[in-house]
Amino acid sequence: MTKARTRTRVGPLATNPEPAPPLDVDALLDDRSTGIIVCCGSGGVGKTTASAALALRAAERGRRVVVLTIDPARRLAQSMGIEALDNTPRPVKGLKLPGGNGRSKGAPLLDAMMLDMKRTFDEVVESQANAEKARQILENPFYIALSSSFAGTQEYMAMEKLGQIHADAKRDGTYDLIVVDTPPSRSALDFLDAPERLSSFLDGRFIRLLLTPARGPARMMTAGLGLITSALNRILGTQVLRDMQTFVAAFDTLFGGFRARAQKTFQLLQADGTAFLVVAAPEPDALREAAYFVERLEEDDMPLAGLIVNRASPAPVGTVSADEAMAASERLRKEDPSSLTAGLLRLHADQTRIVEREALLRDRFAAAHPQVPTVVVPALAGDVHDLDGLRRVGELMAGTD
Ligand SMILES: Nc1ncnc2c1ncn2[C@@H]1O[C@H](COP(=O)(O)OP(=O)(O)OP(=O)(O)O)[C@@H](O)[C@H]1O
Ligand SMILES: [Mg+2]
Repeated sequence: MTKARTRTRVGPLATNPEPAPPLDVDALLDDRSTGIIVCCGSGGVGKTTASAALALRAAERGRRVVVLTIDPARRLAQSMGIEALDNTPRPVKGLKLPGGNGRSKGAPLLDAMMLDMKRTFDEVVESQANAEKARQILENPFYIALSSSFAGTQEYMAMEKLGQIHADAKRDGTYDLIVVDTPPSRSALDFLDAPERLSSFLDGRFIRLLLTPARGPARMMTAGLGLITSALNRILGTQVLRDMQTFVAAFDTLFGGFRARAQKTFQLLQADGTAFLVVAAPEPDALREAAYFVERLEEDDMPLAGLIVNRASPAPVGTVSADEAMAASERLRKEDPSSLTAGLLRLHADQTRIVEREALLRDRFAAAHPQVPTVVVPALAGDVHDLDGLRRVGELMAGTD
């Protein structure tokens, strides 16, 4: 990864007042200085699909790629050979690689993995604590609950895994591009916010308060703290509270490590070798979310590569406008209420209106964020669940269709 080139930075950092050209996906993938691509966006917009499609396309164009997916649909995971949650990148079979499918040094390749959140957490604990302490933490019920269900853990672990893969790739030269999918959060911002939220929770006053009785001698407990503890005891039960205290006491030494790593990954995300792609559906909520995210990247000085408007309604064929089609449909229906042509014209009118509305939403986004290169990917007829589907999405993203 070089620092030679600066990516599109929007807002006050932008130097070019002209509207951005369309997003050139192939230029991004072919650029050897692109080392990390992160696909963000609100829930269900196509982040996992876009990540897998970009990774496949990059590999088939000659890059050495690993894609870190989160909760891919079962059939898609199967087609990529990653049904098992083992936290290890696995080779994807069935690629059309330039110069054959060898895994020789420097040859293009595609590995994929599915993030196992709990396992990633466990691995961090194991790598940071001695065996006895690690065991204490791993067996603690509070840890088990936190590592598998705390809101934000998945985001944190995605970052953690990215940091690990990046360090390995740098050391061994296994990959020259890491494509990262992000968790299905309601808000795209969670990916950036959750690690901080999680570490400030672990680091926070509430936890410190709980920790005190476990650490200090009983006489140090103030009357106030005693009251809080006994209230918590009543609410949570003695055992839960004790588990939390033991957990935090054991976990305490790891805090520094966790924070430092999260910060390092944050810096990695700010580097010029990183490219954020914001995925959105052509709907008001998803585009509003995308706009927030674009602004947030700007605040955090993170390099935005562009916006993918995914699952756009395909434009209907023909040149008849929605109004003309509607008027003709109504005329026909008056003459023959069961007219098939009237029905088809109505459908054409509806479809045209949807396409127009989507274009309006995109225009609004572009007016507010003129520097964001954008590409529109139409909705395919069915779900994207195999390599052919991914390849097709890749072609549509690259505009080589
Ligand atoms: N261009 C497209 N055409 C047709 N179907 C698509 C397209 N893009 C994505 N899909 C389908 O939409 C569904 C949601 O996509 P995907 O799982 O990639 O979204 P996501 O943003 O990762 O969702 P989550 O937030 O739940 O993780 C999937 O069934 C996928 O196959
Ligand atoms: Mg997903």
